[in-house]
Amino acid sequence: MKKNTIYSILLLSLISFSAIGQNTMTVHTDLAKTKINKEIYGHFAEHLGHCIYGGIYVGEDSQIPNVKGFREDVVGALLDMKIPLLRWPGGCFADTYHWKDGIGPRQQRPSMVNIHWGGVTEDNSFGTHEFLDFCKLIKAEPYINLNVGSGTVQEASEWVEYVTSKNISPMTDLRKKNGQEEPWNVKFWGIGNENWGCGGNMTPEYYADLYNRFASYCGGDLYRIAGGPNVDDYNWMDVLMKKTTRHRHLVQGVSLHSYTFTTSWEDKGSATDFDESGWFADLKNTLNMETLIQEHSKIMDKYDPEKKIGLIVDEWGNWFNVEPGTNPGFLYQQNTLRDALVAGINLNLFNNHADRVAMANIAQAVNVLQSVILTKEDEMVLTPTYYVFKMYSVHQDATLIPTDLKCENYEFNGKSIPAVNASASTKDGVVSVTFCNLNPNKKESIDLTLAGQEFKSASGQIITSKNMNDCNDFGKDEIVKINSFEVKKPKNGKLSIDLPAKSVVLIQLK
Ligand code: AHR
Repeated sequence: MKKNTIYSILLLSLISFSAIGQNTMTVHTDLAKTKINKEIYGHFAEHLGHCIYGGIYVGEDSQIPNVKGFREDVVGALLDMKIPLLRWPGGCFADTYHWKDGIGPRQQRPSMVNIHWGGVTEDNSFGTHEFLDFCKLIKAEPYINLNVGSGTVQEASEWVEYVTSKNISPMTDLRKKNGQEEPWNVKFWGIGNENWGCGGNMTPEYYADLYNRFASYCGGDLYRIAGGPNVDDYNWMDVLMKKTTRHRHLVQGVSLHSYTFTTSWEDKGSATDFDESGWFADLKNTLNMETLIQEHSKIMDKYDPEKKIGLIVDEWGNWFNVEPGTNPGFLYQQNTLRDALVAGINLNLFNNHADRVAMANIAQAVNVLQSVILTKEDEMVLTPTYYVFKMYSVHQDATLIPTDLKCENYEFNGKSIPAVNASASTKDGVVSVTFCNLNPNKKESIDLTLAGQEFKSASGQIITSKNMNDCNDFGKDEIVKINSFEVKKPKNGKLSIDLPAKSVVLIQLK
């Protein structure tokens, strides 16, 4: 054999060895301590397009199979996905909503115009009782968003009283008259929504004062969530934290809204029609959530070093142009394998910051932005995002395991992002590790070191598909779903895994 050939063989084997061995992660089971609140896996139902009407609620007289007007198929799917929490009634809608219009006999409820979402008439047939009945059916904690923008302190405090009070009062009498004898157990209350924008276009100083005023009269043992910043508005966070923490008992959480756009706010790109540049841009933009959590947490730490106040990411997810031919005010979009990656990445980030991120709600549960469910008449589609939430439900109320992932980059057009993203947790002796391989062209091999616990077996699940823009659609076979994934047995505290290109993977170790 010639000298040159020998060198080439040696060089090639060196390159392939380093390619196999370059991604590493230690799973520090021995250092697990922070709880991952199940509320991080929360969802959001807004009076927007066909989220509520047609998606969740069809009315008792509908031909579509329903329980008390709620779609049976949707209830079943949400139960199966283990939905832990649902936020309602908005969004921008919340600051236009007057709750008393949505109680009492349905035929007598006044209607209103949904000014933010298509100017359609809202008949208020889905109101407080319907929302809380629905939460009971799907076994989810309710989270109600009060109206600060166009409402009054009295209206807000009466809503809290109507829902939660055991006392004898005009509001509790009204509740009983409407068929609900006992108060509901509603812990989470948002005080306004996006008050820097659709919720009143306020300054942070003005909103923070209003917050203190509303919160003072929305009493009881509640988890009150202040309307926090838009994306990287660090000044809003600073002013809000400074002014609200002067009355520390009145604030339990501060929200953050950050959506992922592929291109820009003006042209958000197509949900389904994209190539690798759309894939890369979307994943790169979603990774910005890490910076946002870190920077907002630093500000929160100044006023709340013990991390008692939760960062509530109560609106997140992909936001694309509406599907062609649909009402632009209804924000209806399809959902592909790319959305599965965006969901998996964000949920891993939230898990890894569980010391500060107390809750997160993807927008919106049904038929709007990055929905887990799409409906058309009596048909229902479970999206790739649905399957990520179902797969990741193992992390709900588990204990976060610190990990130290070192991975190569995924490069595209001169830009690069980490190819792998992960988080790990432990519950009932089972360790669950979720991975996203962001690279659509290449499998990523990863060597795991399992510290602090011995494991005898490992099992896996995977979400992937042939094409990056594959989606599940009405009348077609489901193509993006959970499949089983073969994993080797861990040996001497080590395990190697090959993550296929563009995949979301769960490994469970016992
Ligand atoms: O999710 C759609 C809208 O986005 C919400 O109503 C609002 O809060 C945000 O601007």
